[in-house]
Amino acid sequence: MRVVEGLWVQDAPPAQDNTRRAFETSLTRLGLDRLDLYLMHQPYGDVYGQWRAMEDLHREGLAQAIGVANFYPDRLLDLVLNNEIAPAVNQIETHPFFQRTADQALMREHGVQHQSWGGFAEGRNDLFTNPLLAEIGARHGKSVAQVVLRWLIQRDVVTIPKSVRPERMAENLDVFDFALTDEQMASIAGLDTGASLFFDHRDPEMVAWLSKRRLEG
Ligand SMILES: NC(=O)c1ccc[n+]([C@@H]2O[C@H](COP(=O)([O-])OP(=O)(O)OC[C@H]3O[C@@H](n4cnc5c(N)ncnc54)[C@H](OP(=O)(O)O)[C@@H]3O)[C@@H](O)[C@H]2O)c1
Repeated sequence: MRVVEGLWVQDAPPAQDNTRRAFETSLTRLGLDRLDLYLMHQPYGDVYGQWRAMEDLHREGLAQAIGVANFYPDRLLDLVLNNEIAPAVNQIETHPFFQRTADQALMREHGVQHQSWGGFAEGRNDLFTNPLLAEIGARHGKSVAQVVLRWLIQRDVVTIPKSVRPERMAENLDVFDFALTDEQMASIAGLDTGASLFFDHRDPEMVAWLSKRRLEG
């Protein structure tokens, strides 16, 4: 089993101590003695202090890999260039309407794995009935969801689709017996709007909102 947990902004200052405490709380809640991957959830607060504490957790073998989420290229590069360990992963909003090709190029250059959250855009923008994706799916005998997952995989983007329904979980796993053609990949590239369907992590209002938000429990 691969276990991934996230460090929230509230766990930041003073980062070294609080990061370790937050990590230990996660281990207790999960009933584990180490994690496969530990992610910093947002690029806010004492990012450097949090990252150094995460580097220590990694060196001690408590977090096999460490990474970040929601880091735009400027923040990611700053973190990579000014610390000892580069994030193994950057988990960012990525779906057909917000494809993040420039982000991915930078991540490739620095050995950071691109991971998608919201791969289905949580169904926004009528993703599941998009005519182009449906037409491509029909050619392969696959659903829109399967086309999107295949498109992410062929772009070398790690995907973590979320479903509470067993039949959809099975559907989402059944994507390794077909391949999209170069032409189909290129036509899906045309759906990119270059903009988030959720929020911009560089919008000051969003920075203020996320920094004030407290997780329960
Ligand atoms: N790092 C971050 O800041 C961040 C932010 C957001 C999300 N995430 C993570 O990203 C992962 C992805 O989750 P997400 O909820 O954002 O978005 P998502 O995977 O884009 O969409 C999930 C939605 O799609 C539906 N769905 C799943 N499979 C389907 C299928 N085959 N056909 C039709 N509908 C399907 C689900 O409904 P049902 O459940 O009813 O099937 C759910 O409503 C989660 O693990 C989440 O924790 C991370």
